[in-house]
Amino acid sequence: MAPMASRTDEPLVLGIETSCDETGVGIVRGTTLLADAIASSVDEHARFGGVVPEVASRAHLEAMVPTIERALKEAGVTARDLDGISVTAGPGLAGALLVGVSAAKAYAYALGKPLYGVNHLASHICVDQLEHGKLPEPTMALLVSGGHSSLLLSSDITSDVRPMGATIDDAAGEAFDKIARVLNLGFPGGPVIDRYAREGDPNAITFPRGLTGPRDPAYDFSFSGLKTSVARWIEAKRNAGEDVPVRDVSASFQEAVVDVLTRKAVRACKDEGVDHLMIGGGVAANSRLRALAQERCEAAGIRLRVPRPKLCTDNGAMVAALGAEMVARNRSASDWDLSADSSLPVTDPHVPGQNPGHAPTHDHDHVHEISKDNLYS
Ligand code: KG4
Ligand code: ZN
Repeated sequence: MAPMASRTDEPLVLGIETSCDETGVGIVRGTTLLADAIASSVDEHARFGGVVPEVASRAHLEAMVPTIERALKEAGVTARDLDGISVTAGPGLAGALLVGVSAAKAYAYALGKPLYGVNHLASHICVDQLEHGKLPEPTMALLVSGGHSSLLLSSDITSDVRPMGATIDDAAGEAFDKIARVLNLGFPGGPVIDRYAREGDPNAITFPRGLTGPRDPAYDFSFSGLKTSVARWIEAKRNAGEDVPVRDVSASFQEAVVDVLTRKAVRACKDEGVDHLMIGGGVAANSRLRALAQERCEAAGIRLRVPRPKLCTDNGAMVAALGAEMVARNRSASDWDLSADSSLPVTDPHVPGQNPGHAPTHDHDHVHEISKDNLYS
């Protein structure tokens, strides 16, 4: 894909993402995507049916430098050209985050560039700028992935993210992964359930819709009851010696998930008077979620923004997109003692330094000595 024309006065930022099992390095100029390099350790986790933190950390370590070099090459820029380096500071797996944060610090320090530790969830929202241009303010965001299911309201993605609701148990993607495991469909479960569901009947089996009663919290989610109900239904079929209709189970389970997600997201928009909804995270790749969200948003007069699937799953471009927005809005860079925070609150879009408005200071002679010629020319 050839990068679209971009203005050279916009910030050129490299972003590093290592919160889970994807080593992502993206490069953007303003809201234009220049490179999106990914190395995934997903195959190494497949036999465990979930991500193994130690395995992920080691894979990040091995993939980091080659992925950064691949991104620079793809973007056709040198590390010297960058205006900043951003990195996921949290939330995520502590050891995995640490690899990205350490790499970002090393590159930023060596090159004399400001460092921006940013929030993974805010990055999932901001990535849509690479697809659809500047985010409308305010925007409601439904983030659904293997690790999170949240409804967030943002009036400025660099400084104001307000949690409206979240899952009280499993994440939406986790439910897909668990049901796929019960059906022996492998890991990750979302894409394969999505595929089977296309040939199944979503009304074949009525599975429960979690937290949709009149007294339930309006914007929180729960998928564990649904998961148990689907697993029991499958078990009963097997115990009776009957074939499990994988396509119908997939379609009916998927319908229960996306019905609740879209219903609550649209309701939050209406209640808050917000007319833009964005959906991000790995589950946003789900074809039925996209279709139903489109249908319900249209009926409610809400504009729906969903980035293309590759930008929805974890990637470095989203971190670069938020980093570029931090630079564009003059947000203060992070300090050199930036640490990975596995539970960084969603309300912190980034980790500002002690001296707001100032980039960390550099000992430039020293920087020159360790950065140049021997590292990048
Ligand atoms: O955002 P992501 O790549 O990683 C994090 O969890 O942060 O999301 C991965 C999750 C997995 O649970 C996967 O099963 C789910 O997204 N997923 C899908 C689809 N593609 C990926 N779920 C439903 N339908 C899909 N097409
Ligand atoms: Zn994610």
